[in-house]
Amino acid sequence: MRLTIGKKLFWGMSALIMLFVALSQLLNSQFLEDYYVLEKKKQLMDIYSSINKIYQGDADSISLELERLERTTGIHIVVCNSKQEPTYPVKKTIQEPNAGNPPIPQPQNLNQQNSNLPHPGPEKELSFERSLIQLNLDKISEGREAIVFSKDPRIQTNFINLVTTLNNGDYLILNTPFASISESVKIANRFFLFTGLLTLIAGSVITYFMSRKLTMPILKLNDIAQRMARLDFSRKYQVESTDEVGQLGESINSLSTQLHGAISELTEANKKLLEDIERERRIDQMRKEFISNVSHELKTPISLIQGYAEGLKENVNEDEENKNFYCAVIADEAKKMDKLAGELLDLSQIEAGTFKLEKSNFEISRLAAKVMDKYQPIFSEKKINCNLMAEQGLIVYADRFRTEQILVNYLNNAINHVDSQRLITISVQSTQDKARVAVYNSGQPIPEESLGKVWDSFYKVDKARTRSYGGTGLGLSIVRAIQEIDNNRYGVLNKWGGVEFWFELDVAE
Ligand SMILES: Nc1ncnc2c1ncn2[C@@H]1O[C@H](COP(=O)(O)OP(=O)(O)OP(=O)(O)O)[C@@H](O)[C@H]1O
Ligand SMILES: [Mg+2]
Repeated sequence: MRLTIGKKLFWGMSALIMLFVALSQLLNSQFLEDYYVLEKKKQLMDIYSSINKIYQGDADSISLELERLERTTGIHIVVCNSKQEPTYPVKKTIQEPNAGNPPIPQPQNLNQQNSNLPHPGPEKELSFERSLIQLNLDKISEGREAIVFSKDPRIQTNFINLVTTLNNGDYLILNTPFASISESVKIANRFFLFTGLLTLIAGSVITYFMSRKLTMPILKLNDIAQRMARLDFSRKYQVESTDEVGQLGESINSLSTQLHGAISELTEANKKLLEDIERERRIDQMRKEFISNVSHELKTPISLIQGYAEGLKENVNEDEENKNFYCAVIADEAKKMDKLAGELLDLSQIEAGTFKLEKSNFEISRLAAKVMDKYQPIFSEKKINCNLMAEQGLIVYADRFRTEQILVNYLNNAINHVDSQRLITISVQSTQDKARVAVYNSGQPIPEESLGKVWDSFYKVDKARTRSYGGTGLGLSIVRAIQEIDNNRYGVLNKWGGVEFWFELDVAE
């Protein structure tokens, strides 16, 4: 059985009450009577000393004072002269034994100390005092006082007597009723049992509520601590007191806040670390791919140049036409390598983050018209029908050189992929706070799964076709890098039997 604080409190309190009741019973039955006698003796001794102080040898002269003492304390006083004849209250006692005074106990049975004391009858009233003196003469002649117990059979009352000498040698006998309290002790003990039982019941109820009040906050704190162990820091302790439990609550709250903060920081740091590791891994992977792509791209022109150069060397005496052809191939491959090197340089600069856009305001439709003009000879040569649908007067805030680079990349791709319809359209239009520039060419749509990949370096949808026009797969990745630096969107759509590549620019304010 788990001993909760409530149960401990209950059993502790019950044990305490039971111990208290048992101890009281024991003490009452063992010592209460003795204590009572002691108190009575003390009272007699006090009166003795006060009489002794005022007694000058003549009881009559202080009879008033003695009477006052008798009445106020209820103690019967007898003074005898040295001949053991009563001097106070002789006459009154003989003539009116009970006038105004408590009855003098007539000893029938004396206590253990004086058990051989005679049993004088009522007719021998006064000889009782004398016999008391006689019996205790040894003691009192030494200046000590004698305590004697006696019983009056007529009134069934016990008395306690003090016999002693006063300053001048006269005898003083003090006498007070002495109730037997053993019965009272029994009753008191029984009553104490009842009160003990009642206290136990009342105590149980009080303990129950007290322990509830005491343990409730502890249970709440325990719940909070258990949640904290499960890394749930949402619960806080409602501090309602300034006692130890309240202080503990405050400490747990502050611990929870600090732990929450520390663990959040750790989790955040861990997440960032994992992201960093993942990014590193991706970058490493990309770097490897990039290098392998670059070497692959270089391999073809280099081996071609190498082959044709060898051929040129060996066929040095051959006809001019052959030589020219060999030279043209070498020059063409060298041009491709140069283009690749240029694009790689561009891309690495943009991606390194050292590159900055030099932005200014310019009219985008003009730039588009200028690019189109440049391409007019190619359009004519390839019999391409190129249209410009531009919103006039639209001023953008962008890097003019890079914008032209994007447009040229899109246009080159369009020329390289246009189909037999030979239709290319450049459009410029404003959309809310952006200018949207798009290049459409009629042609084969790009497969759905490749739409997102065309922006990756060296990605080619149709490798054979790309090789035929000498593409390296870097043009669109340069577009992506520029747009991402500029925080502007870009994309590709398959529409109207062709493909449209688009990008957005900030409109000048
Ligand atoms: N207008 C288009 N129609 C169909 N496919 C296209 C179009 N533009 C690009 N692509 C595809 O996307 C790929 C990537 O284009 P990107 O411009 O990056 O490289 P590239 O044109 O092959 O070479 P580079 O531009 O470096 O000379 C191309 O290889 C091609 O397969
Ligand atoms: Mg291209």
